[in-house]
Amino acid sequence: MSNSQKKPASGGNPFQRLRVQLEGIQPALEPITLTIGEPKHEPPQFFMEVLSENREGFRKYPPIHGTPAFREAVGAWLCNRYGLGQSLDAERSVIPLNGSREGLVTACVSARDYLGKTGDKPAVILPNPFYQSYGAGAHMAGAELVLLPEQGTGVLPDLKVLDPTLLDRTIAFYFASPANPQGTVAPMAYWKELISLARKHNFMVFADECYSEIYRTTPPTGVLEAAHALDGTFKNVVTFNSLSKRSNLPGLRCGFAAGDPDFIQFYADFRNIASPQVPLPAQAVAVRAYGDEEHVIETRRLYNEKYEAAEAILSPLFGSVMNDGGFFLWLDTSRWGGGIKTAEKLWREAGVKVLPGAYIASDMPDGTNPGAAYIRLALVDSLDISREAFKRIVTCLE
Ligand SMILES: Cc1ncc(COP(=O)(O)O)c(C=O)c1O
Repeated sequence: MSNSQKKPASGGNPFQRLRVQLEGIQPALEPITLTIGEPKHEPPQFFMEVLSENREGFRKYPPIHGTPAFREAVGAWLCNRYGLGQSLDAERSVIPLNGSREGLVTACVSARDYLGKTGDKPAVILPNPFYQSYGAGAHMAGAELVLLPEQGTGVLPDLKVLDPTLLDRTIAFYFASPANPQGTVAPMAYWKELISLARKHNFMVFADECYSEIYRTTPPTGVLEAAHALDGTFKNVVTFNSLSKRSNLPGLRCGFAAGDPDFIQFYADFRNIASPQVPLPAQAVAVRAYGDEEHVIETRRLYNEKYEAAEAILSPLFGSVMNDGGFFLWLDTSRWGGGIKTAEKLWREAGVKVLPGAYIASDMPDGTNPGAAYIRLALVDSLDISREAFKRIVTCLE
């Protein structure tokens, strides 16, 4: 195999795979792209103002731990959002990230070193389908990737079936809530069960909560909230979040990891040589953004309008398409030959670009791919464009 044909261990970027898949197909209608989960609603008005006021900060190397104001603002938001009282020590439990993605990758290396498990090959567990960066983290940590198959929309993987010897060599368990792509939210009892397992077998729960503020009706329970409810500590638990979805600022690259203070401090030492710091003006935007809920409420309203339109237009064909959170639709297209075939058909005949579910899931050891039957739609465009896309999908497939 030539170097140019080699694929990274994660299976490759799903959008590049789609590009290859659709190459040469001429769409019949003006294209509408529903593939990438890049928020397109307006960011809060104040963001350029704050960047500009703090522009001198671009002339400085930022501290890896973030500014005291950053840690305080994130800590206050977490305490308020999840009812943590005084139990979160923001000084030691919060660290800025260049968006949650890079943290989700590099934290896995720190989990391996922090836990210092010896003996059998370390394992990383994650539900399948999954955000591909978790796989990159496992790869960098030299860990075996153990995939939990999708149980159907709204059903969470059964933790009771996990083999204790596997859990003993596990260094990290990645779990997204709301999940991308299904939009399923983990309830308090599920988080508690996972955290209890993590403490019993000494692995880290890496909770990807970047969609935590994009929900339909009820704010999703957070991993810190569950840890707090268990015993008031955050041992073995880290949440990852960012301004990308909450504040429509995916290009700012500003997020955070928060949780187990001993782990966060260990991770900060690693980051201090291995990771880029977050620019001071971006941290200043975060301080302001985490103190403001108005823009988040409006963003949520805009997504929910699109879910209502999707439910009205698509449910006659697919059944209810509602979920608990996030901004994706995860549609079973078995009747049309599965995700890859349906994505090709929708692009050719309707000019609608969607992501085949197989590209964000990996093959299980038995060769099946739990995403194969599905397509994923990102509801990031305007209501009008989204509505037009839903109508075209129905016309094309009914
Ligand atoms: C499930 C999930 N996790 C993490 C991320 C990373 O987001 P960011 O690095 O912008 O915070 C994304 C981005 O789309 C995502 O879908």
